[in-house]
Amino acid sequence: MGSNRIGKVFQVTTFGESHGCAMGAVIDGCPSGLEITEEEIQMELERRRPGLSRHTSPRKERDRVEILSGIFEGKTTGAPIALLIKNEDGRRDAYEPIKDILRPGHANYTYLKKYGIFDYRGGGRASARETVARVAAGAIARKLIAPIVCKAKVIEVGGEKDPKRIDELLDQMVTEGDSIGAVIECEIYNVPAGLGDPIYDKLEAQLGSAMLSIPATRGVEFGEGFHAAKMKGSMHNDEYGLDEKGNIRSLTNRHGGILAGISTGEVIVFRVPFKPTSSIKKSQKSVDLSGHEVPFILPEGSRHDPCVALRAPSIVEAMASLVLADSLLVQKSYTR
Ligand SMILES: Cc1cc2nc3c(=O)[nH]c(=O)nc-3n(C[C@H](O)[C@H](O)[C@H](O)COP(=O)(O)O)c2cc1C
Repeated sequence: MGSNRIGKVFQVTTFGESHGCAMGAVIDGCPSGLEITEEEIQMELERRRPGLSRHTSPRKERDRVEILSGIFEGKTTGAPIALLIKNEDGRRDAYEPIKDILRPGHANYTYLKKYGIFDYRGGGRASARETVARVAAGAIARKLIAPIVCKAKVIEVGGEKDPKRIDELLDQMVTEGDSIGAVIECEIYNVPAGLGDPIYDKLEAQLGSAMLSIPATRGVEFGEGFHAAKMKGSMHNDEYGLDEKGNIRSLTNRHGGILAGISTGEVIVFRVPFKPTSSIKKSQKSVDLSGHEVPFILPEGSRHDPCVALRAPSIVEAMASLVLADSLLVQKSYTR
């Protein structure tokens, strides 16, 4: 697999499988002298950790990060930063009964076709457990990009926006052993105008690619997004004006903070739809590796997350921070 790295200057490579011994990230290209502590990285991991709400999977991981290199006396040294998070709740046995049956909506069919082998233990590399390494690396990117701040939240579950209805819907999914999709919205504040590159490295393309790399994402829309296709130019255009200090500003922000692939200085706004968790407690039709049609039934006691998006805001923020960190460092190479 040659696709485990993101970034041109702020380069992050992640490694590890869901039920292997550990997950981790190596960051190369982080400038020296950035102050960062293990506790600050830990705080981000706490936000992502499973088992913190009654609607998220009860996998019991402490997710303790260890800094192996690149940080000395609380500051980055310019050397590669290696971060390690041990897997403590691996349950290989739990997957034995279904190891030869294709899990509908999950990764084993395509991994088998591509590599001829599949790590059936919780999805192996395709598991969202991999995102723990991104969140750890993202904590360093967050520090680097300050005062730029990425804030993501779930804004819709199963088409519902009202928190009470969402709670009821999630309870219903748990009772029925089913799952539901959701939308996360991310806003990025204090972005200077000028980040991102035209043509193939547009800021939307970089953010979009980062978002679509998160498991279970189905798309990404910026500003008015898909709704723009129903609007007139006179409704969609953001007119310009001057603020009280005489700076040029958009009077509205339907464009979502990016034009021609370059940040405008307005808040960057995008939304990411997540599909319903593929592992559900209902029996589903499938095929085993010997070519027989068989039912796919999650073994008794398997973890069941009714809505994967509930745990994803910290992942969205981490990926956005990684893209912004890289864009800022790339931008430095253009200006004197
Ligand atoms: C935070 C998070 C947690 C997830 N947990 C599960 C899970 O418990 N069960 C599951 O089937 N899929 C889960 N997924 C989604 C799968 O990893 C994903 O659907 C699978 O790898 C196939 O990839 P794709 O959906 O991107 O095509 C999770 C995704 C995220 C973002």
